[in-house]
Amino acid sequence: HDHRYYVLDDPSISDAEYDSLFRELQALERAHPQILTPDSPTQRVGGKPLEGFAKHQHRQPMQSLGNGFSDSEIRDFDRRVCKGLGVEQVVYVCEPKLDGLAVSLTYESGVLVRGATRGDGRTGEDISANLRTIGSIPLRLQGDDHPPLMEVRGEVLMPHGAFEKTNAAARASGEKLFVNPRNAAAGSLRQLDPQLTAKRCLRFYAYALGFVDRWKLPARHWQLMHQLREWGFVVSELIEIANGIDDCLRFYRGIGDQRPQLDYDIDGVVYKVDELAARDELGSVARAPRWAIAHKFPAEEAVTVLENVEFQVGRTGTLTPVARLRPVFVGGATVSNATLHNMDEIARLGVMIGDTVTVRRAGDVIPEVVRVDLSQRPPSATDVVLPNNCPVCESPVVRPAGAVAARCSGGLSCRAQLKGGLLHFVSRRALDIDGLGEKLLDQLIERRMVASAADVFGLDVARLVALERMGEKSAQNLVNAIERAKDTSLPRFIYALGIPEVGESTAAALASHFASLDALISAAQQDLTESTQADIKVKDQFPRLQAVADVGTEVARSIANWFADDEHRQLITALKSAGLRWPQTDHEQAGDALGGKTIVITGTLDGMSRDQAAALIQSQGGRVSSSISKKTDFLLAGEKAGSKLEKAKGLGVPVIDLDDLRSMLPDS
Ligand code: IVH
Repeated sequence: HDHRYYVLDDPSISDAEYDSLFRELQALERAHPQILTPDSPTQRVGGKPLEGFAKHQHRQPMQSLGNGFSDSEIRDFDRRVCKGLGVEQVVYVCEPKLDGLAVSLTYESGVLVRGATRGDGRTGEDISANLRTIGSIPLRLQGDDHPPLMEVRGEVLMPHGAFEKTNAAARASGEKLFVNPRNAAAGSLRQLDPQLTAKRCLRFYAYALGFVDRWKLPARHWQLMHQLREWGFVVSELIEIANGIDDCLRFYRGIGDQRPQLDYDIDGVVYKVDELAARDELGSVARAPRWAIAHKFPAEEAVTVLENVEFQVGRTGTLTPVARLRPVFVGGATVSNATLHNMDEIARLGVMIGDTVTVRRAGDVIPEVVRVDLSQRPPSATDVVLPNNCPVCESPVVRPAGAVAARCSGGLSCRAQLKGGLLHFVSRRALDIDGLGEKLLDQLIERRMVASAADVFGLDVARLVALERMGEKSAQNLVNAIERAKDTSLPRFIYALGIPEVGESTAAALASHFASLDALISAAQQDLTESTQADIKVKDQFPRLQAVADVGTEVARSIANWFADDEHRQLITALKSAGLRWPQTDHEQAGDALGGKTIVITGTLDGMSRDQAAALIQSQGGRVSSSISKKTDFLLAGEKAGSKLEKAKGLGVPVIDLDDLRSMLPDS
């Protein structure tokens, strides 16, 4: 009856009959505790409130999706897919892009054992108790053909009716209202008391599998969606098969028309290559697969008044003009701040304080000012002026000729830069120090207890308890978290340093290419010395750094300049002596056996994932590319190699297997 009610939306008995059956089951279980199983419907809401959420390691990472707004971006995506597969037309599955929260459910032999948030994609939070309260999440799968172990991925969302009810209840008890259903769903899943989550009427839609053990996947995503329905999941009733990209674009317009009638939020549609083998062939870039894309609905716009412009100082010192707006409801939330990006953008818009402006907001993206209505300009309108001094530390603001961004020259003596840098340093994807939030950092900086990232590691319980709102227990927890953070990895460490232009994936590429921090620093120094010497062409500058995948001149310059700064090198020394450590990478004895060679990988390799093979190649100075051309040196091909193999043969690119590759490397 739960399945009929929550999943099929087609109950066959009345609520009263259901309640009476439910009470009968409860009574039976009380009388005969031995028949009570964890997947009983009486066990959805149980247990006491939690103290906190444990970490959960996903067996297979939860990726995100690339996106596009215009038809032409989508057609570009389709061209890349067709080219990658060497075909004229591709079959896609089109799905609504549900605007909720991604979760991963682990089933062992058909029984739900764990449910977790996405987190950083690799590690999420164990919110099993809350997810169990969601009626459309099966506690036990239907049928009997279940993998011994699998992860089911999907979206938890709050339907509009439930959102209205939640906010009505919050209003009645004087609590803060949620701005939109997505935030309400997020807030509900983060409740420590599952009883509260249970009241929120959340819904789960399944749309993918993560890790699957010892079970033969169907050939197509479409079949998989059918299988998920058979097992008892809700799969969107809106999904459709598309023969080629024109069908996809028709689907997009159709869903756009239906959007106002849906009882939940969607922020676009998703196109996924249907054939699973073709997905393997296409692979992934950074954190997103090449075989899928989100086609987002256009951002919503609204008109309001620009009341003031203030300048915010970021962690690299960049001054960003922020529009203070008369509050306006747009894209599902009330907006009172928007970014104006930089002074060039202000000039381009021709905007003045007091102007009537159009703001745009899409999903979670920061709202921006897109247009000015000059006909509404009041005589009192004033110019936006870049301050000469940093609004936070009073240091001179500099704007190097040709540079777009104005910067505060205060460095780490500027509280805003220090705080921004520290927030980045402790953030989840960097050193991941739980419990060191903005308010606490404010106090630590104010009391001069922390003047650089290294000082964080000198904090102890005795000094922390002296702070406001800090008890013995939280101080101890924080000290423990700081201690744990000392064991990190080279990619995380590089990312945590906050080098401008170096995001997570560049940090990972640098770590895997250089294998050690010392090697990276010495490459940066040598590159800088040479590049400032003679009249080298720009594209030939920083050759060592540019040898890293995806590092171009600008990124290389930024890295080289960063490591040239004494303050930064002292920071690294201080962090190391504070006890930060990371395992040596596998390919510590990185060599140059493949120096300058470009290799493309295709097919299923024997006993090694493609990522591992790529790391191995990079560790030996080789470059891994995704598409074959005459410049490719080798195609590393495994089982079921498809179009790339044909293409390589056509271009006369030598085809090698793993053994051939190993024979090119020094014995290890
Ligand atoms: S597939 C590798 N399908 O969008 C594929 N995601 O931007 C990963 N989302 O984190 C996800 N609707 O929260 C997929 N029909 C759908 C989706 C969907 C919404 C969300 C999901 C994901 C994010 C990626």
